Amino acid sequence: MSVSAEDRELAGTGANRRDFLVLLAGALSVVGAAAAIWPFIDSMNPASDVIAAGAPIDFDLSPLKPGQQILIMWQSKPIFVVRRTAAYLDTLRKPQDIKLLRDPNSHVNQQPPYAENWHRSIVPEYAVLVGICTHLGCIPHFVPKAGGFLGPSWPGGYFCPCHGSKYDFAGRVWTGVPAPYNLPVPPYHFVDNTTIRIGENPKGSNWEFSSIVQL
Ligand code: FES
Repeated sequence: MSVSAEDRELAGTGANRRDFLVLLAGALSVVGAAAAIWPFIDSMNPASDVIAAGAPIDFDLSPLKPGQQILIMWQSKPIFVVRRTAAYLDTLRKPQDIKLLRDPNSHVNQQPPYAENWHRSIVPEYAVLVGICTHLGCIPHFVPKAGGFLGPSWPGGYFCPCHGSKYDFAGRVWTGVPAPYNLPVPPYHFVDNTTIRIGENPKGSNWEFSSIVQL
C-alpha cells in the first residue's frame, strides 16, 4: 500500500517524500501539535537512489532519548522507531491493558518470528514498527501520555485519528476499533549496539516481509 502525501499531513509531520527523517518528540500532544523536526543530518540519510531501490537502511539510535519516537522512511513506508521507557514497557504487560487488545500474543503474521514476543521487537527498549494503520492506511499518531483526551483507560500508545483505531506501544491493536490487525514489524536487525538495519533480517532468518497479513 502506498502512503499518500495527504496521509503524511494527517500524521502532522508535514513530511514529504524527500523528507525521510522526522523526529516526533514524545511529549507532544496530538491535537494541534507541531511536530519537532529533527535537524537533518546528512550522514544519517541514505542516498535517494538507495531508498528508491528499497535497499536496507541503517539508522543510528544514539540520538534518540528515552520516550522519543523517530519516523524514518523505508521503501516509501513510514517506520516508527521508539525508545521505550520502563513506564511504556510496563503497559505492555499490565493485565488490564492486555485485556484491551485484539491479538496480544501476536498470533497473526504481522511481525517476523524474532519479534513474536511481548514487546514485538528484538530488544524491549526499541520498537520498530511500520506506521500504517491496518484499517485504511492513515499514519497513527504517537500519544505516549496516559489519559488525556483518549480517556482514563488510555495507557499511551498510538492513536489513528482517521477512524479512531488505537494501538499500544508495541503496535498491538485494541479490540472494538476499525483496524483489524497489529501494526506490522519490518525485517530489521542490530548491526552494532546502536545501529539498526531496517529491511534486512538477522542472520539465520529468511522471513519475508511480503508474507504479512496486511500492510
Ligand atoms: S485508517 Fe486508521 S482508523 Fe481508519
